[in-house]
Amino acid sequence: MSLITWSDELSVGVSAFDNQHKRLVALINELHDAMSAGKGSKVLGKILSELADYTVYHFRTEEAVFEKHDYPGLGSHRDSHAELTRQVLDFKDRFEAGEAVLSMELMKFLTDWLTNHILDADKAYTAFLNSRGVS
Ligand SMILES: [Fe+2]
Repeated sequence: MSLITWSDELSVGVSAFDNQHKRLVALINELHDAMSAGKGSKVLGKILSELADYTVYHFRTEEAVFEKHDYPGLGSHRDSHAELTRQVLDFKDRFEAGEAVLSMELMKFLTDWLTNHILDADKAYTAFLNSRGVS
């Protein structure tokens, strides 16, 4: 069973970003499925790496659009991205070093990490970006 289910409630009103968020949701679900199926650290590490890389890519994409349109919330949103990136890279490094294991606790953390950011910081840009013709 999927850990996170995408719904319109998570839509930020910008289709390119919704699609990227869906990809992040899919990667977290993939990680959860692999963990539940008892896959080894090689498989889990690969998905975790992909999640970390895609997170960095997605945040860069959002920030480039914010910069282009002089989004007033850019500073604090960038700080939030930096913190989230640090957390995910830190876990990835510890996992690769054999100092951390995947657990339901971590999966819960990743779920909250993504959904809270979307519902709070991301949804705050919807009206501004839509008013600039970005949708
Ligand atoms: Fe964001």
